[in-house]
Amino acid sequence: ASTLRALAKRTGVRIGTAVDMAALADDTTYRERVAAEFNSVTAENVMKWQFLEPERGVSDFAAADELVDFARRNGQQVRGHTLLWHNQNPAWLTSGVNSGEIDAAELRQILRQHIYTVAGHFRGKVYGWDVVNEVIDDNGNLRDTFWLRMLGPGYIADAFRWAHQADPKAKLYLNDYNVEGINAKSTKYFELAKQLRKDGVPVHGFGMQGHLGVQYGFDGTALDNVLRFEKLGLETAFTEVDVRMILPVDNPKLQAQAAGYTLLLQACLLAKRCVSFTVWGFTDKYSWVPGFFSGQGAANLLDENFAPKPAYQAVSNSL
Ligand code: XIL
Repeated sequence: ASTLRALAKRTGVRIGTAVDMAALADDTTYRERVAAEFNSVTAENVMKWQFLEPERGVSDFAAADELVDFARRNGQQVRGHTLLWHNQNPAWLTSGVNSGEIDAAELRQILRQHIYTVAGHFRGKVYGWDVVNEVIDDNGNLRDTFWLRMLGPGYIADAFRWAHQADPKAKLYLNDYNVEGINAKSTKYFELAKQLRKDGVPVHGFGMQGHLGVQYGFDGTALDNVLRFEKLGLETAFTEVDVRMILPVDNPKLQAQAAGYTLLLQACLLAKRCVSFTVWGFTDKYSWVPGFFSGQGAANLLDENFAPKPAYQAVSNSL
């Protein structure tokens, strides 16, 4: 049987995974499978602000650089995640904002410096960035975060302009969950992207995380959704795909899971400018799902013993 990366080569779509740096260091099987199956990697955590600047003014790129090195050694490309989010920010930043010690003008400077520093550090080493992550809520409004409250809606355009200045060749993405099909949230992104492009803001891509659950069913409008963003001149990507289920695992759920992966992968393959399909981890041995969605799990392509599940076979068959 061929690996996913060998099968993906012909398609022109990169096949990627999020990488857990602890597993990469400690688990030989994990490390070998990352190298064998994928031609793109994303840091599951270590390129987030919390990890890059735990202490104000002191950058720590060690773990992220380790991933970049691993990727280079294995002929893989790196997808950057993420420059701006409302989660996983350093404590000094959130507490400074909450206490009023950091005012709006200072926050704007801090954000600009962060983007310059990080996008500058990884210039030429990442092919793209999730510049802003999860900035719209499920009702289709700009998400109520300290970024929006303190900086106003213009922070989104600012973030893209700064990222472009720091790394002019990187593809710059909007990224979110629950935007795989056509709905209020993805439509707000569509309007936002259209406006940003009209204003000359360097936005190049729309990233759909793809955190699905078999219990919700799957929205058949994924391909139409991808195509409408591509008509704006954007490239697209599935950036964090996993398909969780309410435990325990049974065969109907595994088959449904395979259908969920297939739906998103096929939307990507049938589109014109979908450049990557990244899974948010590939083995149930290491997954964020059980810790975040109680009673749920088994969201990945391989089980906890690295044995392929029906979803792995389905992805393989679709490539
Ligand atoms: C998750 C990681 O998988 C966890 O390890 C971490 O504790 C929290 O973040 N959307 C995103 C990702 O954009 O960064 C999140 O990753 C999952 C949801």
